[in-house]
Amino acid sequence: MVVPAHSVLITPSILSCNLARLQEEVDSIEKYADWLQVDVMDGHFVPNLSMGAPVVKHLKTKLPLDIHLMVSNPHERLKEFFAVGAKHITFHAEAVASTGERKDIISDIRKGGAGAGIALNPGTPISVIDDVVHEVDLVLVMSVHPGFSGQKFMSEVLGKVTALRKAHPELMIQMDGGIDSITAKECRKAGANNLVSASYIFSAQDRKAAIAALRSA
Ligand code: DX5
Repeated sequence: MVVPAHSVLITPSILSCNLARLQEEVDSIEKYADWLQVDVMDGHFVPNLSMGAPVVKHLKTKLPLDIHLMVSNPHERLKEFFAVGAKHITFHAEAVASTGERKDIISDIRKGGAGAGIALNPGTPISVIDDVVHEVDLVLVMSVHPGFSGQKFMSEVLGKVTALRKAHPELMIQMDGGIDSITAKECRKAGANNLVSASYIFSAQDRKAAIAALRSA
């Protein structure tokens, strides 16, 4: 999916919404957001556990489901997300070192009818994905160490975004972690065109305004 550099997709992450009221929370952003991110953690790749396919199975939304797999065994976790209608699945470069397996995962994500993304932790250089960057639909540049919402934006990752954008003018570059109306400006300036945000959106009384602020950053 090509998103022109001047336009941006806003992707709320349900990680910090009130999960006891998940449907209402999603309803509150349904008309304003572009994608909906589900953060999947395994307590091994990251020091936290979150949610899996059963949580989204009965969710009613027209927003494309964007699955961020923070797990050590992403290849084994794909099918459960195809079954709940995932439109995009992103796995971490740090979890899969071999080029062969990365390519197999990307191919299997596509066969399952979804777009494939690869994610980079803050300390991982972009050269680590030279082998597959031309094959993915999206690169996710993490701007916090993954595992928790509500952390401080790490501006030191912006250089990676600038370099990726320069090398790949058409690439969808997603950023995630500590994104609010202020840091979103820096993300956009560096060339990101898909912004994930959890606490900024779900702690706002007025979600429409919060999403509009991210969109116009
Ligand atoms: C971090 C997750 C993020 C997180 C972002 O591990 O991948 O999606 O929910 O939360 P905020 O926007 O609160 O930093």
